[in-house]
Amino acid sequence: EKGGYDHFMLKEIYEQPSVIKDTYRGRLNSAQGIIKMSGIEDNLEKFLNANRIIIIACGTSWHAGLVAEYIFEEFARINVEVEYASEFRYRNPIINSNDVVIAISQSGETADTMAAIKLAKEAGAFVFGVCNVVGSSISRESHAGAYTHAGPEIGVASTKAFTTQITVLTMIALRLAKAKGTLSHSDFHRYLLELELIPEKVKEALETNDIAEEIAATFKDVANCLYLGRGYNFPVALEGALKLKEISYIHAEGYPAAEMKHGPIALIDEHMPVIVVAPIQGHYDKIVSNIQEIKSRSGRIIAIVTKGDTEVRKLADYVIEIPETSDALSPLITTIPLQLLSYHIAVLRGCNVDQPRNLAKSVTVE
Ligand code: M6R
Repeated sequence: EKGGYDHFMLKEIYEQPSVIKDTYRGRLNSAQGIIKMSGIEDNLEKFLNANRIIIIACGTSWHAGLVAEYIFEEFARINVEVEYASEFRYRNPIINSNDVVIAISQSGETADTMAAIKLAKEAGAFVFGVCNVVGSSISRESHAGAYTHAGPEIGVASTKAFTTQITVLTMIALRLAKAKGTLSHSDFHRYLLELELIPEKVKEALETNDIAEEIAATFKDVANCLYLGRGYNFPVALEGALKLKEISYIHAEGYPAAEMKHGPIALIDEHMPVIVVAPIQGHYDKIVSNIQEIKSRSGRIIAIVTKGDTEVRKLADYVIEIPETSDALSPLITTIPLQLLSYHIAVLRGCNVDQPRNLAKSVTVE
């Protein structure tokens, strides 16, 4: 049932090229310049008239929401807020009837997300669910939705759910951008073509497995790890840290790279590995100077870079090369080596990768 893999998590990591394709198949047609999801088409006016979009989720799904915030704002110029469901539901949030709430949940059973949806509905908001499990409670409780087509995710650590969530959310943003005219025709088209190239690029990114395993062997006994990224890759840093924490029990923190100087840089010494997500697109020069700051304090640097990178390579102790894509789509690629890295570290530490201690696949209690 693990398809020849040692763990479900590894199997699910390797399924990503095909499930990302499953997720956009029948919904995206680059030749015709079409993105079509019935849940969006049927409710297009609601999205177009929305004052803002509030995204509610927990854990990895919340990280997908953060990536979506950047994408929605850039592509569709809609104000987006991303909330932890557990915080949102208990703080007497301001919800208006022209708010659109997007709830993201792999399982569709997360208690806090479910409760937040109920609250939003009571306040008259339109609730759109992005779930993986068909017929799940959240998919039923939402007014409309779009499924991710990741297939069953068994490993407690979410992997393919994350990348398929980003795929669905990117398609929604593109559809809205088309309706609003906030992306030029050529940019819209370019993104459709690039999305179709993602499965191939994820496949290529999976070839980093061996180097990830080597790096894992070097770092498996560390006590702490920092993950840094900027822009679209800031949430990827958070997700990388969460993945390491939950399956290897190593303390890890994700930070926006520029926040280093506001505190965490005090942690840097020769014992602190810093994983930096530094693709060529985006804020490359800025992240190079962040890496310099770490280097000058003797931090050990593992960098995720674009193939052919020259600058980061001069500074980093280890580089993991991934194929190039646009800044906005890069989380779909940069996240792959981070999944592999935490997987191998956890295996080398003898951890129960698929069922880490204290965790359940769906968190149905608050
Ligand atoms: O099923 P959901 O997407 O609602 O679950 C949310 C979180 O419990 C989940 O993403 C959790 O953080 C994962 N174990 C992370 O790998």
